[in-house]
Amino acid sequence: LPDLQLQIDRAAGDLADQIAGELRTAVRSGRLAAGVRLPASRELARDLGTSRGVVVEAYQQLVAEGFLVSRQGSGTRVAAVGTTASPDGGAPPSPSPPRPVYDLTVGTPDLAAFPRRAWLAAVRQVMAELPHEALGYRDPAGVPELRAELAAYLRRVRAAAVTAGELVVVNGVAQGLHLTVGALARAGPVPLAVEDPHSARTYELLEDAGADPVPIPVDGEGIDVAALRRSPARAAVVTPAHQYPTGVVLSPRRRAELIAWADEVDGFVLEDDYDAEFRYDRNPVGCLQGLCPRRVVLLGSVSKSLAPGLRLGWLVAPPALAGTVRRARALSDLGSPVIDQHALVRLIAGGAYDRHLRQMRRRYRARRDALAGALARWLPGAVAHGVPAGIQLYVELPAALDEAAVVKAAADRGVAVEGVAPLRVDAPGPPALVLGFARLSERHIAEAVRPLGEAAEAAEGGAAAALATPGVPRVPG
Ligand SMILES: Cc1ncc(COP(=O)(O)O)c(C=O)c1O
Repeated sequence: LPDLQLQIDRAAGDLADQIAGELRTAVRSGRLAAGVRLPASRELARDLGTSRGVVVEAYQQLVAEGFLVSRQGSGTRVAAVGTTASPDGGAPPSPSPPRPVYDLTVGTPDLAAFPRRAWLAAVRQVMAELPHEALGYRDPAGVPELRAELAAYLRRVRAAAVTAGELVVVNGVAQGLHLTVGALARAGPVPLAVEDPHSARTYELLEDAGADPVPIPVDGEGIDVAALRRSPARAAVVTPAHQYPTGVVLSPRRRAELIAWADEVDGFVLEDDYDAEFRYDRNPVGCLQGLCPRRVVLLGSVSKSLAPGLRLGWLVAPPALAGTVRRARALSDLGSPVIDQHALVRLIAGGAYDRHLRQMRRRYRARRDALAGALARWLPGAVAHGVPAGIQLYVELPAALDEAAVVKAAADRGVAVEGVAPLRVDAPGPPALVLGFARLSERHIAEAVRPLGEAAEAAEGGAAAALATPGVPRVPG
């Protein structure tokens, strides 16, 4: 059965209408393809914790609208929307249902959990209250209300050293990194330390902005500052709260060493405050920027807490860089969308942002536990690393396994996973997977890991067969 990922807000009432709305959107967007069979009403009602009558009503509504087709004996299926096929039957919709695919790749938070109603309420409020003049060209560094709200939030939650005037609103960490590296590279390419392994998405962006990336290995304490000292780097991009992809938290000793290094080389640390909102065992450690605001650029966004599609983030630069970065931000695109900035102000000020984070922390924690439990059962040779945090789990595979073969064998079984090899630059390391657990329910996580375990077994079998084949060179390790 497909993972429907319906986002229902019980407090908002009219559940049948909400379920119908969510399903309608899923069919329109193609997420639910023609021919896909929906869960029996009783089963979906149980999953959603509603009465069966509510689901039956939603299905009936969509059958009436032509989005679904219901036939005795074959359940309820997605209709061939947009074709002339009569909704009540004749031939059943032609395409065969796609096999279930479980997506354990990283990348986004649970987009089905985006607080749509709260966002809509915030936008309504903005449209009712915002004066006409506010829709003109505003300060490219961000609307003052959002800068104040974010600065207060970062002081409170991340122990950042920031005032509203020092904070610049940007279109995500990506733009913040591009602007900062661009500012550093004005006099020529800047040797920039990057963690190895590292986010593939940001690597190219840094190069494009004028960086000459210098990979520095990450160990159990975070970036290896001794290796950094031996390198020509004069600036470093790090993910101290929860290293991507290994999940390591930068240790107190390394935090101090990193700041000392920045002082020694008269350089800067670019702190990508990646998924710092989600720590499940304790409060997250405060940001590095709070420790040394004159050396650290703090970069964050709502991409993991709300959704990357909002493209809303922030940047706090040390005085020595702030003017250049701000000017670059003003010249690049004249600022971020004003209505969305005001909506985020209301979401935070009204408490809905904190409520959403609390809810997501509970949900992600349960999903992480489910993943760890399923791995222990179905992939007992694997070791999960990193603190209980974030939206991804770094899982080291037994050394004899071929990572790429596991990824491929998993894909053949309908489970999408990513290996760490594509994220490594220079530093070698054992085979490992980076598993994103944010988007799947606990049940689906459990269902996805079993075939993943089979995939690992198949890869192991393949490796053993290859080793036994004469003429195939033996790979050490
Ligand atoms: C480690 C890391 N930092 C930053 C980003 C970009 O974030 P944003 O959406 O805030 O630009 C990504 C995106 O995948 C990422 O993996």
